[in-house]
Amino acid sequence: MRSSEHGAPRRSTDVLVVGGGVIGLVTAWRAALRGLDVAVVDPEPGGGAARVAAGMLAAVTELHYGEETLLGLNLASAARYPAFVAELEEASGLDVGYRACGTLAVALDADDRAHLRELHALQTRCGLSSEWLTGRECRRLEPMLAPGVRGGLRVDGDHQVDPRRLAAALLTACERAGVVFHRALAERLAVAGDRARGVVLRDGTELAAERTVLAAGSLSGRLAGVPPSALPPVRPVKGQVLRLRIPAAYAPFLSRTVRAVVRGSHVYLVPRENGELVVGATSEELGWDTTVTAGGVYELLRDAHELVPGLTELPLTETLAGLRPGSPDNAPLLGPSALPGLLLATGHYRNGVLLTPVTGDVMAEVLTTGVLPDEARPFSPRRFPTALPVRQEQPA
Ligand code: GLY
Repeated sequence: MRSSEHGAPRRSTDVLVVGGGVIGLVTAWRAALRGLDVAVVDPEPGGGAARVAAGMLAAVTELHYGEETLLGLNLASAARYPAFVAELEEASGLDVGYRACGTLAVALDADDRAHLRELHALQTRCGLSSEWLTGRECRRLEPMLAPGVRGGLRVDGDHQVDPRRLAAALLTACERAGVVFHRALAERLAVAGDRARGVVLRDGTELAAERTVLAAGSLSGRLAGVPPSALPPVRPVKGQVLRLRIPAAYAPFLSRTVRAVVRGSHVYLVPRENGELVVGATSEELGWDTTVTAGGVYELLRDAHELVPGLTELPLTETLAGLRPGSPDNAPLLGPSALPGLLLATGHYRNGVLLTPVTGDVMAEVLTTGVLPDEARPFSPRRFPTALPVRQEQPA
């Protein structure tokens, strides 16, 4: 037993999760289901990058050269999604908007087409299922596509989920599983005897824990008190995203996610069953800046309009920017850090929503048994021997 600053006894929890975005929440929920005593510290649990994210589960269409190891984890998580959603919806009583709708990646000009052909070859080498379609076949699937579409890749295995609903369901599931929420900002990590012991809040309150999990997205790289050897080398990568509404008279506007590389920039359109259409996303190395800019909105609308000209008729309902937690190899950091008692679940970059189920399973396993599952070994934080410098300015 420990004492709070008011003299009342303060019991140390088994696990304190710093960060209440989808990664922190799934870690807390899964750990609580394993019988651990869990708390989460976050001023606004259920927020974070998932409030902005489109929620594509795009292991195949977002494959990149050099990310074949990450692909294995992405596919493992994608395969878990249906059962994960069923369990979460049962536990929370909430619908998370999971849609097994597939994805169509299209090309508008010869360069885009060559790029897509390369992606198709890479997918084939990796044993992934995707089908090359002519422009006419693409338009037969999605009649709203521009007449100039030159070809595309049909990937029926890349689905979607609504990240805001996912976060809300995880929050409820956590509460029902007995997770305690501290709606406050963790000011610094508490370290004693060369071991993490929880965190100290801005008002000096100490939240004691046997193990602390740093799952604060891009902010994970800047928690005070974490020794440099354990500090995750994550950085913020800005993404601007738009939300439009598809009036009932226009439905079905698109029946699946449609994406493209237009003059080198990625653009995607994610249609939800509730009529929302998410258009994303910029990718900007601008530190902690979350300004929505005229240029960002213009480029997204320009590229989306080239793909689907009828989009300009739709009401624009929201513009938002979020921060992806980028890591040096674009893959997450999962498991024990160099500091005893401190574990990491961060650096998920473009794949936080996709990797939510597998992250929950991996973190619950390592928190319960002390052993990192085989599937997560390539993603141990120890692959980065010393932290790279991160920007130290205050986030906006
Ligand atoms: N995975 C989509 C994005 O990061 O924009």
